[in-house]
Amino acid sequence: MTPATDAVQADTPEAASSAPLLEVRDLQMYFPVKSSGLIRRTVGHVQAVDGVSFQVRAGDSLGLVGESGCGKSTTGRLITRLEKPTAGQINFEGRDIANLGARQLKPLRREIQMIFQDPYGSLNPRHTVGTIVGTPLAIHDVVPKKQILARVQELLEIVGLNPEHYNRYPHEFSGGQRQRIGIARALTLQPKLLVADEPVSALDVSIQAQVINLLQDIQREFNIGYLFVAHDLAVVRHFCPEIAVMYLGKIVEIGERDRIYNHANHPYTQALLSAVPDVKQAAIGGRRERIQLTGDVPSPINPPSGCRFRTRCPLAQDICAAVEPPLIQIGRKHKVACHFAGELGQHPAEPVTAPLLGVDRHGERLSDASPDADLGSGSGYGDTWYDFPGRRMVRGDGA
Ligand SMILES: Nc1ncnc2c1ncn2[C@@H]1O[C@H](COP(=O)(O)OP(=O)(O)O)[C@@H](O)[C@H]1O
Ligand code: SF4
Ligand SMILES: [Mg+2]
Repeated sequence: MTPATDAVQADTPEAASSAPLLEVRDLQMYFPVKSSGLIRRTVGHVQAVDGVSFQVRAGDSLGLVGESGCGKSTTGRLITRLEKPTAGQINFEGRDIANLGARQLKPLRREIQMIFQDPYGSLNPRHTVGTIVGTPLAIHDVVPKKQILARVQELLEIVGLNPEHYNRYPHEFSGGQRQRIGIARALTLQPKLLVADEPVSALDVSIQAQVINLLQDIQREFNIGYLFVAHDLAVVRHFCPEIAVMYLGKIVEIGERDRIYNHANHPYTQALLSAVPDVKQAAIGGRRERIQLTGDVPSPINPPSGCRFRTRCPLAQDICAAVEPPLIQIGRKHKVACHFAGELGQHPAEPVTAPLLGVDRHGERLSDASPDADLGSGSGYGDTWYDFPGRRMVRGDGA
């Protein structure tokens, strides 16, 4: 890997306006639940991912945040095609890879790589680091056999490990060093997209920053697009210019970093921000008002009707059980799915979505209504959006 030649200018206007590296549309993953006994019938489905849409540009990072069980890892496993989605599109460089077979996927395996949460569990303890990092090179026939060791040592150096340690085993390294091995392995084939699934959650806080810095350096050098999964909003704050908040298989809020951290409109995002431990609170701006999150995430086998967050939402009203709030674009780069969307302490008394959906305040359909079909539930952002306080569509130029 030669950094100088592989690096592409990520920040050029052309790069920003070009087509996304990854575009996910209405992605869905339903795992069947089987009955016990001789004839195992499908008795239900785990709705792990249910209609998720987003984009990742080359050299950019999208943070995917939410509590455990929200479907973050499943989303990552679908994009890397470790799983085949039930429905939806995964457009990688403009080509839908959602339904490709094993043979068609092989070349793509080079381009989309994953870094796992548990650096120890994802490394074969019986293989040396040289084998772990070098195997993908051999499988994909990337360099002649004789050059594999040299390439492995180069990769170890890139991730800050001693290149002479290629013949050591994973247990001989610390947690942080093992995650560096996992990163070196992911970089072996010069991927364009890296799905990092809670890559620092298992590490000591003191090591977390080092690994995040390493991932950031690598991104700049190789122009890699990241989907960075975390359960903590503090971790993605410095890494990701765009953040998506997921709850029970759906994106409930997505937007530019500043919108999410300083102008969150969804009670779940606000609760996640409130829940950040005090030490990290200062790092994400600090806030005095709080929304307490109680109880666990409900089962995705039988999710609540209407808004899936309603069983834990302090603002929930009748309409929340009756009608699912659509993901609506409410700013230049900001979407939210909540009937009572508003900044903390400024949530409206009446459902702001009701006129758009053609329902009354209880969620009953109005006979003379013509609901607005396109409110911005696609994968990117449009030039117009709905201004909730003003109750009207506005254009990017403020008209
Ligand atoms: N292979 C599977 N079969 C059945 N259910 C699964 C499978 N993988 C994940 N799930 C379920 O899907 C939901 C989302 O899981 P996951 O994507 O791991 O969430 P997260 O990474 O946000 O913690 C969970 O309820 C989990 O139990
Ligand atoms: S739609 Fe209702 S239940 Fe869902 S987050 Fe908004 S207020 Fe809470
Ligand atoms: Mg996970």
